[in-house]
Parts: sequence; C-alpha cells; structure tokens
Amino acid sequence: MATDTLPRAAGIIGAVVPRIDGPLKTTGTARYAVDHDFPGLVHAVAVQSTIGKGTIRSLDASAAEKMPGVLLVFHHGNIKDVYRLFPHEEDGTISEARPPLSDNKIHYWGQFVAVVVAETLEQATEAANAVRVEYDAETPDVRTDLGTGFTGKIESSWKRGDPDAALATAPVVVDETYSTPVETHNPMEMHGSVAVWSGDSVTLYECTQGVVNHRVVMSEVLGVPKENVRVISRFIGSGFGGKLFPWPQSTLAAAAARKLNRPVKISVDRRMMFSNVGHRPHTEQRIRLGATADGKLTAIRHDFYSQTSQLDDFVEHCGEQTPFLYSCPNLVVTTGMVRRNVGAPAPMRGPGAVPGLFALESAMDELATKLKMDPLELRLKNDSERDEGTNRPFSSRHLKECYTTGAEKLGWKNRTAEVGSMRRDGKVIGWGLGGASWAAARVPCTATVELCLNGRVCVRCATQDIGTGTYTIFAQVVHAQTGVPLDRIDVFLGDTRLPDGPMSGGSMTTSGVLPAATSATDEAVTRLLHMAALTPGSPFHGAKPEELAVAEGRVLRKDQAQVIGVAMHSGGDAPANSVPFEEVIKLANVSGVYGSGTTHPSWDDPKAKGYSLHSFGAHFAEVEWEPEIARLRVSRTISVFDAGRIINKGAGGNQILGAAVMGVGMALFEGTQYEPTRGQPINGNFADYLVATSADLPQQDVIFLDYPDLIVNEYGARGIGEIGMAGMAPAITAAVYHATGVRVRNLPIRIEDLLESKILEA
Ligand code: MOS
Repeated sequence: MATDTLPRAAGIIGAVVPRIDGPLKTTGTARYAVDHDFPGLVHAVAVQSTIGKGTIRSLDASAAEKMPGVLLVFHHGNIKDVYRLFPHEEDGTISEARPPLSDNKIHYWGQFVAVVVAETLEQATEAANAVRVEYDAETPDVRTDLGTGFTGKIESSWKRGDPDAALATAPVVVDETYSTPVETHNPMEMHGSVAVWSGDSVTLYECTQGVVNHRVVMSEVLGVPKENVRVISRFIGSGFGGKLFPWPQSTLAAAAARKLNRPVKISVDRRMMFSNVGHRPHTEQRIRLGATADGKLTAIRHDFYSQTSQLDDFVEHCGEQTPFLYSCPNLVVTTGMVRRNVGAPAPMRGPGAVPGLFALESAMDELATKLKMDPLELRLKNDSERDEGTNRPFSSRHLKECYTTGAEKLGWKNRTAEVGSMRRDGKVIGWGLGGASWAAARVPCTATVELCLNGRVCVRCATQDIGTGTYTIFAQVVHAQTGVPLDRIDVFLGDTRLPDGPMSGGSMTTSGVLPAATSATDEAVTRLLHMAALTPGSPFHGAKPEELAVAEGRVLRKDQAQVIGVAMHSGGDAPANSVPFEEVIKLANVSGVYGSGTTHPSWDDPKAKGYSLHSFGAHFAEVEWEPEIARLRVSRTISVFDAGRIINKGAGGNQILGAAVMGVGMALFEGTQYEPTRGQPINGNFADYLVATSADLPQQDVIFLDYPDLIVNEYGARGIGEIGMAGMAPAITAAVYHATGVRVRNLPIRIEDLLESKILEA
C-alpha cells in the first residue's frame, strides 16, 4: 500500500544530516544536568541501605550533622512534604511509587535511607559515610528461579483458537524455557539532578526523557502547582528507558533545596545505577510451538514470568509481538508477575520485545532444527499478511523482504546446516538469524516555529533529545519547507516552558514531532506570505498570497520556486525578484512571524485506528568459535529494517548500529547478579558488568528498506530507537548453536555453556 511519493520535495528528508548539536557536544559546550552550577550551590550524597530487606532499627545522624560543612541530613524521621502521586492521575508516571525516605522499611539493597547535604561534595561524601544505621535484617528474596512455587495471578491474553488442543495433536512440538537476566541501563551520563528554588517555584536541571512528565510528577510529589515547576533537560547522555520517569534522587534534591533555600546538586554514581534507577527485569519464558511436518505453525503458547520489585507493578510484556509476528490459528500469552527484593524495574530499550523475541525466535530456530528446515524458510513460510492478534491489516509490513535482503547480503544460500560444518581461517563459523518488531504510533505534540527579523528561525517544543538526533529532525523539517540553511535554525527543546512535546520514548518521538513541526512551519510561512502580499512597500504588495512561496529562505512567486534552488545551488545569485524572508518582516515592522502546529495522536485517528502499526526487521549474525581455546566472537552482523521512511539516515543508522551492539552485550555479557544473603548487585561496576562496545562487533551492516508508512504521518516515518536490539540475541544464540551444537536458553552465553560442545577442533 505504500507509495514512494513524498508530499514535499525535500532532499534533506532521508539524507545523512550531521547532528546540529554535534559541535556543542564535541567541544564540551553542551551542559548536561549536573554540569549546572549556581552561586551558593551545595551537594547532596545519598546513603544506601546495606541490607536487602528489613527495618531500620535506628538511624543516628548526630556525628554526621556535626561534621564540617554539613547543612542537613534528611531521613525517614525528619523529611516532610514529600507525597505520593495523585491516584489515577493520567498524565504523570513515576518509576518508584513509594516516596523516598517515607518510612523505616527496606525493600531492596541500596535503597536510599538518608541524604546528606554539605557545602562541598567531599564533605557530603564523608558525612554520608558517618551516618550510622542499624537494621533488623531479614533475608531478601532475590531467587533467580521465577516460576517455582509461584502463587500469584496468571493473566491470560491474546487467546485465539485452542492452543492446548492444537499442541496435543501437532505432529512436531517444541517446548522449551528461556530466561533473560536483569540487565542494567548503562547510559554514559549517570542520573543526577540540580534543584534551584526561587520563592515557591523550583527549577530542576535533569536528565529526563520526558520533561513534561517530570514536571507533573514533581509538582505532585512536592505539593506545588505545576506552574511552579520548571524542568530543563537540554542535553542527555542517553537513557535507554532508564530516564523515562523520575527517580528518588530528583525528589530528594528538590526537597533538600527547598528546606535549605540553596541550590542542591545530587548525583547517582555508577554503583548506584545498578540498584536505584531501574533495570530490565529478569524474565523466564516457556514457549510451546506446534507445527505440521512441513513447518506450518499450528499453535503458539507463550507463558512468561516477569520479575518486579516489592512495591511496583512493572511488567516486562514479553508477549507483545507474539500475537502478530507469525500467522498461527491457535495462540495464547500468559503473564505472571513475580516480586523480589530488587529496585523498581523500568522500560529498557525494546521493553518486552527484546526478551520476548529472544524466547520466541529461539524457539523458532529450535523448531527449524527439529523439522530439518532452513530457519529462514521457516520464517518466510509462517509470515503473516495481517495482524492476527488485533485482526487488522498492517499499515506497512515488509518483514519478508528484510529476511531476503539480509540473506542475499550474507550469502545465506551458501550456509550448510550441519552443526560445526562451516570453517574459515582455522575457526568454526556459525550463522543465525532473528526477527524483530516494535510498535509504532503518532504521539501528540505541539511545536512552534518563528521566522525572525534577524533572519533566523526559532523552533520550540518541550520534547528533548536523548542523543538520538531530535534537534536535527526539527531543523530538517524547517529546512525542507523553507530552504533556510541549518545554521540559521535554532531549535529549543528540553524545557517545560516550551509547548508540550512527547517523551523521548517508545521509539515514537520522531513520528510524533514531524506533523507538529510541519504544520507549525506551514502556518508561519502562510502568515509570512500574507504579510508579503499585504505590506505596502513589499515587492509582492497586491499579489495573491497563494501565488507566493518561500524557497532558499526567500519569498518569491511560486513559479520561481523551482528555479531558485537550481540557481543558488549552482553558485548563482538569487533571482532579483525574490527577497530574503526577513526583508518582508522588516518591511512590516514586526519582529517575527509565528506558527504553531499540533500532532493528533494515531489512536484518535479513525484511519490509523484501522491498522496495526509496527516496524519490522531481521538480524543476521555470524560467530567465530575457536574450540581449542573456547573463544567466541560475534564477527559480523547484517541488520535489515523496515521502519518506515528514515528521516536522517545518519542518526537513524546509528540507532541500529548501537542497538545491535547492545544486542551482542545481551547475548554475551550482560546480567546483573544479586548476592543471595543481602541482595546486593555484586557486579555493579564496569569491571564486572561488561557492556559491549564496537570492538565486540567488528563488522556491521545496516540496511533500511525505507518504505514510507503514510498511515503514521505524512513523511511516512515510524521509529527506530528500540527495534534494533530486538532479534539480535536469538540470532547470536542460533549462530552459536550452528557453530557449536550448544543451545543456550539462559542468557548471557557463558564459556561454561560452550564447553559442552562436541566440536573439539576447527
Ligand atoms: Mo524507550 S525503553 O521508551 O527509552
């Protein structure tokens, strides 16, 4: 259904456009949350619990309070005016519902039990170490076995047909259980907050993926009107979902700053990152697939447990892609939420889909092995033309082409199926593949565009750029419609004083901001053209506004709009019968022309509601196995994605490159481990918790199919932030099986697992 025509001739849309904020970042000019400093600013350091479950018997801050420079020690006995969120508040989401320090109960190791504020960071750190806490400790429950003895509620969803009956009669059945560990978000920038009060208003410098939500939450938590809270997050050193919703350190900084009437800065250090600011929860998933002897799926059962904290009901929705990825008449997904003494989980890049597709796609590979069928062939055979979960057509689905394109690039037809049968340079080679999907939506947004007297354009929106290129997307839209050069476009994001914009989350920011930015630019341009026609002395005075246009940043007659670009790009002068847009503004004696635009959400759009909106993709992974020394490397990946029109192929390609590397980390390295007697994350540092880097994946190819999805927005863009991580881990474990004959169902892959291999030499 997709057509390849864009509504606007706009070469910059889909080009590789360097980030407009790049120079600010590479020169150290960009200021992140805790880079902010103010006269009189003081430092807060949190004290963490040293038990994983129990009660604070006594907390003695007297020594700390007497130490040099110490201004305040907040704990459960003295913190005041910090509240829970309003019940049923629709537009505010918090990560950890229990307000920090609100009682003497300990629910997880590392929970904040006090916060010390002092004149210097060193004084605060020293005093934090001097706070004496005694506990009545209990043994925390950090068992890694989620299913055994589970007594909670099992929720059933997406049921169609009779999966149990179909499994009972299926000629071929796969029935396996897969698990993924706790994975910790490790953005380069750690969490931190700077709170500055002025009277009864507070400004928070944050690293949040949603300034608008952060303001709502903090106004309720602090008990001040929303209008009195300003949240600023101009630059963010990534988030991966861990910065979507506020964490306790923000509340503590604001409460301490209010109490002291001084600006307060707090930082979450790398060790605290593993306990206090979220993680992807542990999952355990049993997949049962039924199939005919020739490989047609007849049944899918996806039963999973998802770990959460004691007090928050976070579920990793592992079964979200299961109902529609394949055509299958009998299916059910069930969910069990398992409480453990861990901090609150949070969405992490591709929540649900990433662990869910590890299980489903691994089971598909096992089914292919059982059927003695090519795993690629099995995917193609069971591809679905329609979303059988919601019974809607897909707005645009080209998953088959993702597979065939990747297979062609890798030379999949040369793959020999037998385990350990492929060799190269004295190594065993394994090839595997995995499918990916992620939901799309057009999220609401407002934006304004101002053509200014000084010849610059200002764009404003209270979304933010977590590092993915949102600033640049706005500038591209304005440039596409006006021809004003990028270096004359100022984009203002990450401040709640701007018009409300979306979260940087769900891979939905770009698709959400595009319509608002486009219509805001349209409105500003339309007003400018009216001004050109109505202003005495304007070279276009008396013309019909609809006969005028803006191109190359100049106002001219529409019939000249084509030639001007050609003339100026070939080094010629602008036509004499055109004027810079600011000339019109000057003649009208105004300081600027303004337009505003809104994005209406896809869920309120009757047309979009009729479709299933999803992106798709496929990863191909190659591993090298050296059995003599038990060394495994991922040597190459090819990632082919169908994510709608890619607006910026540079920034967009980076999303898939980075996510694929994260997928390598998921497969080979990552997993937060909790010590069983106290519940402490024992590998909570970068020496013991390994994060994959580019060096762990020496050769990567990313291919975008680039079919515009015009149901989602007029540019046809969906989203690419999260999907690149989905499908990579199962592609790697499939490749590992192909090379070694070892089927790893519990991530990450360990060398111990691979020592089971019967392939003893290359
Ligand atoms: Mo994404 S997990 O919504 O940052």
